[in-house]
Amino acid sequence: MFSKVAIIGLGLIGGSVAAGLRQRGLAKEIVAGVRSQRTLQQGLALGYIDSGSNNLAQVVQGADLVLVTVPVSAMQATFAAMAPGLGPNTIITDGGSVKANVVAAARKALPGHLANVVPGHPIAGKEKSGVAAADGNLYEQHRVILTPMAETQPQATQTVRAMWQALGAEVLEMPADEHDKVLAETSHLPHLIAFSMVDTLARQGDSMEIFRYAAGGFRDFTRIASSDPTMWHDIFIENKEALLGATDLFIEGLAQFREHVAQADSAAMLGIMTRANSARRHFLAMSANTAYSTVQHNTEGSFMLDNNTPNPNFVVAPGGSIQGDIRLPGDKSISHRTIMLGALAEGVTQVEGFLESEDALATIQAFRDMGVVIEGPQAGRVTVHGVGLHGLTAPNRSLYMGNSGTTMRLLMGLLSGQQFDTQLTGDESLTKRPMERVAKPLREMSAVINTTDGTPPVNIHGQQALQPISYHMPMASAQVKSAIMLAGLYANGTTEVFEPAPTRDHTERMLEGFGYPVQREGNKISLQGGGKLTGCNIEVPVDISSAAFFMVAASIAPGSDLTLRHVGMNPTRTGVVDILQLMGADITISNEQSSGGEPVADLRIRYAPLKGIRIPEELVPLAIDEFPVLFVAAACAEGETILTGAAELRVKESDRIQVMADGLSAFGVEVETYSDGLRIVGQESFSGGEVESHHDHRIVMSFAMAALRATSPITIRGCATVNTSFPGFAELTAHIGLGIKVENP
Ligand code: S3P
Repeated sequence: MFSKVAIIGLGLIGGSVAAGLRQRGLAKEIVAGVRSQRTLQQGLALGYIDSGSNNLAQVVQGADLVLVTVPVSAMQATFAAMAPGLGPNTIITDGGSVKANVVAAARKALPGHLANVVPGHPIAGKEKSGVAAADGNLYEQHRVILTPMAETQPQATQTVRAMWQALGAEVLEMPADEHDKVLAETSHLPHLIAFSMVDTLARQGDSMEIFRYAAGGFRDFTRIASSDPTMWHDIFIENKEALLGATDLFIEGLAQFREHVAQADSAAMLGIMTRANSARRHFLAMSANTAYSTVQHNTEGSFMLDNNTPNPNFVVAPGGSIQGDIRLPGDKSISHRTIMLGALAEGVTQVEGFLESEDALATIQAFRDMGVVIEGPQAGRVTVHGVGLHGLTAPNRSLYMGNSGTTMRLLMGLLSGQQFDTQLTGDESLTKRPMERVAKPLREMSAVINTTDGTPPVNIHGQQALQPISYHMPMASAQVKSAIMLAGLYANGTTEVFEPAPTRDHTERMLEGFGYPVQREGNKISLQGGGKLTGCNIEVPVDISSAAFFMVAASIAPGSDLTLRHVGMNPTRTGVVDILQLMGADITISNEQSSGGEPVADLRIRYAPLKGIRIPEELVPLAIDEFPVLFVAAACAEGETILTGAAELRVKESDRIQVMADGLSAFGVEVETYSDGLRIVGQESFSGGEVESHHDHRIVMSFAMAALRATSPITIRGCATVNTSFPGFAELTAHIGLGIKVENP
């Protein structure tokens, strides 16, 4: 990679780069610029460098890369000392943790070389310093931020980027000022607080007494107060402006918190703490534009994003049978709505059985961002402190919905009637999904909404009052219906929606549960704006859409006998049961009761040979999310199964017609696709193979169940997405008989 690399300042940072380059054979010659003979001797003895000197101009002569890792305060003098030896093509980078001052130093001391200067900051360290502590793998899976200047040529940045990547780092780029601000907030301020807090407490009375009783929390929180004072002194001085800004913000927040405690203002206190609980995860997912599930902890407890994180594969062994008596997670559609309506209600709403999945958490976060205090979720329990129809407050930034289409579409309606503007964003998959189907009718209500070529980001300009409409939906969509009804809460008069076919009616039922009247006559749903919701208690039933995977699994695997408890049996959701029964499935329904305004029942499913059918089109909206797994049932049925009238499947989290057809064909199943459906010819068994998730949770879970009838293992790539609706899927299915293993690629 390099013929000669010069490292100026051979401490932990520079020494680790030298060691890393050496270990990987990336530089023919490594020369160090050092002040002390002792460091030189250590570097030579460790074999990281070939030679060294304190004559910097000489050290850099003939180098193709120079890395300067001296304190930022010494940068300018160091640059000046090495300048006479620099060649026209020598690339110069550094490891300073403050960047604006390095840029300024380079402009002063290296004016003829700016095209080759690439300021950088490796974010890795150890508590020990010096070349003796150097480690050639220090940068593996750590981040390096480069802050190229206007003058820097792209080729130079590319070379430095390649060097860090070769050492295993993830490289990001941003302007120097932004770097300094971000680091002031995320690194410099926490150090300042830790130093200050430990010092303040230590100076109180008998400090030994305090430290004797210091619990783990104190130790963790103040660990960084043992960092090198000289180094941090320099950083604080070098990044003074940005650090002062961050410190002022913090002092203001702290003073507010103090006041809330003084006033015993529980709502405000809980607001701060519940928001803080979820903030780290949320903001990282948001800035990386990924679903929450692709943000994970690394071993040090800090966060890593998408590229370096395990997005596991599922490897499912062929065959087996399903046995058990289980209760699956809560309903996703209903969980979203408990938060939305709970937030708009007056008083407190207590939710049990809440689905703790990524999508539902996105809804919670959005309302926290709009000032609603929400406790939990903890073991399915959530407490929403309602703010009333007009109590939401403007969020500080875009509302991030992750992968959740339901959150985005329903919120478009709800936010159209607020008195503030909002922007809604989502992850890569959500950003491709159509939003005009909701924007269009809302505009007829005089909402001001802009989509981005029909997709997210969506910008909403809040309106004082909306106009009611009478809307005939062109497609059977519960999301469109619900968005219009939520906007209708803010309309002057009666809003009417006509459905072309029945779709899930959770919004209608739950509004009634919150004491808000909704009229339903035939296919017309109407409500009058300006009413009031009253907080209530809700128990969320088990999600029939999650249960569907298990119904199919037990139906296709010989010898299976499975009981699913407390499954939501709302008649607008039970299409999957009807379709499976038409195919000959053995499903017994018992213990039917009502729970929080929704019917529930226990289902017992025993293996039965299935036969192919033509799926009645009127069942399509009632089983809209269950088709991926129904296609697996069809692939195991005798004869052919034909589905039409289901074009909607092409615009779900993935194109579910194409993705399932591709996967099943790869297993050797005969599949023909249509624009609005497909034809599948079932067979006794099929081969396994490898398929992609396409960021779609239901694709993952469907293919996992297909392994029960495969003759070789099925590998599904990219399975973090199951967390959007079903955290713990792999563990649970393994427990009841599926040969599933989670593998990190
Ligand atoms: C949902 C409605 C359906 C469904 C989605 C959840 C809801 O979408 O596919 O998973 O909670 O209202 P459409 O309304 O787009 O059919």
